[in-house]
Amino acid sequence: MTTQFIGKENFTIHTQTVSESCPSNIALIKYWGKYDNQIPANPSISYTLNHCKTNTSMEFLADEPFSVQTFLSGNEEVKFAEKIEKYFRNIEQYLPWILKGKYIIRTENTFPHSSGIASSASGFGAIAKCLMALDETFTGKISEEESLRKASFLARLGSGSACRSLYNGLIVWGETEEVQGSSDLFAVPYPDAEIHEVFKSFNDWVLLIHEGQKSVSSTVGHGLMKTNSYAERRFQEARENFVPMKEILKSGDMERFIKLVEHEALTLHAMMMMSDPAFILMKTGTLEVINKIWDFRRETELPLFFTLDAGANVHLLFPSDASEEQIKTFIETELLQHTQKNGVVKDVMRF
Ligand code: DP6
Repeated sequence: MTTQFIGKENFTIHTQTVSESCPSNIALIKYWGKYDNQIPANPSISYTLNHCKTNTSMEFLADEPFSVQTFLSGNEEVKFAEKIEKYFRNIEQYLPWILKGKYIIRTENTFPHSSGIASSASGFGAIAKCLMALDETFTGKISEEESLRKASFLARLGSGSACRSLYNGLIVWGETEEVQGSSDLFAVPYPDAEIHEVFKSFNDWVLLIHEGQKSVSSTVGHGLMKTNSYAERRFQEARENFVPMKEILKSGDMERFIKLVEHEALTLHAMMMMSDPAFILMKTGTLEVINKIWDFRRETELPLFFTLDAGANVHLLFPSDASEEQIKTFIETELLQHTQKNGVVKDVMRF
């Protein structure tokens, strides 16, 4: 199944430093639940962000004993290094040179560390791109298309959602009949010709409702789906949601888009509430913001809506069009007060 990604046995290694950057992404149809080898329980689709990125430099010291040292914003992170070491051992068949040297990895995020913005997505995306850059210098050049696909494949093995960060625009990961070429092994861009213009220019402002450690890691969260009696129905619903999503993306039907995206976010949180042990990932501020968004929409009919990750922060989504100034004013005057420290990360989708 994965033979297309098996690495070349002929390589010449040398000491080399590469640097890459990768953005984060926000899912509209969520990945929550997985099988062995990072196979998703259902397909997902996300928007790639523009400003929220991880910049990574990877120094490879050839012929030194295998070891990994990592620095996050200049501070050594031993736990992260252990995770990367394990990850590198795991992907040796795809990059046969990978254990033949020492690594010094320096990484920094353009967004606050504690913001709850998925740093594993941009982080593993950037690492996978660095690995592919090294691979090309050691084994020879391949096409950009092949390189990106393998980077997406490798990023997935580090963190599932990371595989979607390799491409710009709307990105699908997980096999679905609704998207040609989609795969459980890597992400693919959603076909541009099938996307209405209104979805190509979008804002994502992340309200930092609660900064600090998340109450549940995604590893634990995905694991809880294994014993959740609603899980199969949820996976089925996510698969089914690709049918209306496809129609919506084509037609530009904002009302249906809003309904579907908010439903996906609330379902993710509902699944956590129905897990054993149960988790409530929203905070008071999350609920206040959601209710204010719904009131605002009822009163103004303007397209401001939300999605959520597995945490308390709220991603505010709204198109970049004539309505955006009124929406921005509303966010500043009414929603910002529900954050901990007036924290908001203003991003746009990258197409
Ligand atoms: C809620 O990709 O962080 O953001 O594969 O265990 O690294 P691992 O999980 P991760 O899960 C992300 C879950 C989500 C939804 C999504 O991005 O689709």
